This record gives sequence, structure tokens and C-alpha cells, in this order.
Amino acid sequence: MIDGIPILLSPEMWLAEGASSEEAGTDPHHQRYAEAYEEMSFYTAWTGVGDDSLARAEKSLRLRMNVQDDRAAPQWAPVRGQRGGNTAGAVAAAYQHLGPFAAPGAFVTCLQIGGRGTHALNFLVAGADRATLVSPVLAELQFSRELAASVGLDHRLDVVCGIAEELPFADAVFDRVYSGSSIHHTVTAESFPEISRVMAGGARFASVDIWRAPLYNIGVKLFGRATPGIRCKPMDEARLEPARGSFDDVSITMHGALARYPLAVLSRMGAKPSAAWARRLAEAEDSLAQRFDIVARQASLVLVRGAVDRDDATVESSTGCA
Ligand SMILES: C[S@@+](CC[C@H](N)C(=O)[O-])C[C@H]1O[C@@H](n2cnc3c(N)ncnc32)[C@H](O)[C@@H]1O
Repeated sequence: MIDGIPILLSPEMWLAEGASSEEAGTDPHHQRYAEAYEEMSFYTAWTGVGDDSLARAEKSLRLRMNVQDDRAAPQWAPVRGQRGGNTAGAVAAAYQHLGPFAAPGAFVTCLQIGGRGTHALNFLVAGADRATLVSPVLAELQFSRELAASVGLDHRLDVVCGIAEELPFADAVFDRVYSGSSIHHTVTAESFPEISRVMAGGARFASVDIWRAPLYNIGVKLFGRATPGIRCKPMDEARLEPARGSFDDVSITMHGALARYPLAVLSRMGAKPSAAWARRLAEAEDSLAQRFDIVARQASLVLVRGAVDRDDATVESSTGCA
């Protein structure tokens, strides 16, 4: 435990005297842990503990809360300054798939994988009973706890240090699972089946990740990486394949076909779209991508929506992992 947070990363396990972590299968250099360990210091700094990030995150959460008054149909509102309007359509569709978060007579449990917990908090605002954030980055977990406390939601949030490939939870405990821009940091042959394992019968999953667009390499060469300092490996067909076999019902859609790189350029020049513009842009490109295959093929984001259908548990009988 650090600061009251359980560190459930296998490489942190105590080993018998003389035992090697490699033999115990807990070598931090193993592919499934490597990226999390390599990027820990980057994401710790990025989390922004000590600067005005908490105030900014709280403000954006409050903005989102305002549009979520109708708890039965929570919406995701892009906020000014968000990088690229093109995430808006994909995240809105993900939220629609996951909602509603409140169900009469049911105890609804949510899991956010990776990140600073803003989505988990959105789900609580939208009526979920309990939410959990799992991330390999301690600072993100500390940040999300602080953010939850600042908006009075800390008593319904749990945070756990772990990775998607080895989720430290029992089977069938979550009713909703969301991951934003984190699955592409994982070994998907392990993370998608793990996610399915922790989902209760009737549970739903959604993730939004960067996709290897045809112009990705040229875009990176010309405009640099969206997050300098991080070796993002965009999703491709091979890494997506395990999703198809992990859920009973899967839908994969492409988003963000046109605006990503112009927005990246504008962003470098300090220009960010307003929330209204971000939404309009996202809707326009999503509708073009649905109509024209040639547009869809330029997509820079992939949205995976899944559901599990097993009858060993139901949303009504799920008790969560709290
Ligand atoms: C680009 S950030 C995503 C930020 C996120 N969209 C948010 O809401 O804050 C990538 C995230 O991947 C997460 N990550 C990296 N490796 C991971 C792994 N193996 N399992 C789960 N999450 C991981 C880190 O927590 C990091 O925050």
C-alpha cells in the first residue's frame, strides 16, 4: 500500500530470498509490464500534481455534470481546449453505449482503465453506485482521489494500481467498463480477455483509442507526436482482433477521419476549438465516415463497443468489488 492505495502490480510482489522476478513471471521488463513501467515517470509528470491541473479537471468535470442532469441519458460534452474535436463523436458514442448508469433496484459498478479517473467520476455523476479506477500510475490514482474529494464523490470511488493485462479483480464484478486512450498501451491479446473476465453478465464495455491511419507516420513526421515523450503504438487490425473474440457482442467503428492533423497544427499554434465547434466537427466527420468508405479509411480513432452475455451473473445480482 502507498498512501492507502493498493499496489497490485505483479512486479512489486515480494519474492522468496534468492528468487528471480523473471522466474516468478513478474519481471518488469516483460512485455505486459514494460510500457507501464517505462512511461510511469512521464504520466506522473503529465498528471500535473502540484500545478493547476486539478482545478482544470474539476472545472471540466463540472461542465460535464451540467449537461448530465438527465441521468438516464448521460452525455459527454467536449470542453474547450480539448485536443482535437475528433474525439468528441467517439466518446459520445461510447457513453451512449454504456448508459444508463442508474438502474432501479440494481447496484451498478463501473471500472475506468487507465487515466486520471474523470470518466469514472462522470459515471458516478450519471447515477452509477460505485466506480473504480485502475492504472499503473500512482500519481493518476492520487489525482483522481483528490478530484473525487473536491467534488464530493470520494466515498464512491476506489483506486487500485494495476494493469489491464492483469486486472486485480475477481470475475464478473463490473457492470460498465470504459477505457480512454489506454488500451493501445496494453498487450491486447491479454487485456481484452481480462476485461471480459471482470464483466458481469449483461455488462457493457467501450474504449476509444488512436488508430493507425494511413497518414499516421507522415503526420507524426510532419507535426510530431500528439503527446511528445510517449511512444504511442496506435491500434491496428492485429491488435484489435482479440476484442472480437472476447465479447459476445462487438461493434468496431472508426472516427476522426479528417480533422486530426489540421487540429494538431492549430493546437500547436495555440488555437483550440470551442466546445460547440468540437461537437459540430465531430458530428460532421462521423456522418461523412458513415457514408463514404474512403473517408472511414482515413480514421485516426477506433471505438470498440462490447457486451458480455453470460448468464452466471446479471447486472441486478452483481455486487461490485468495493
Ligand atoms: C494517453 S493516457 C490516457 C489518459 C486518459 N484518457 C484520461 O482520461 O486521463 C494513457 C494511459 O494509459 C494508461 N496505461 C498505460 N499502460 C497501461 C496498462 N498496461 N494497463 C492499463 N492502463 C495503462 C496510463 O495510466 C495512462 O494514463
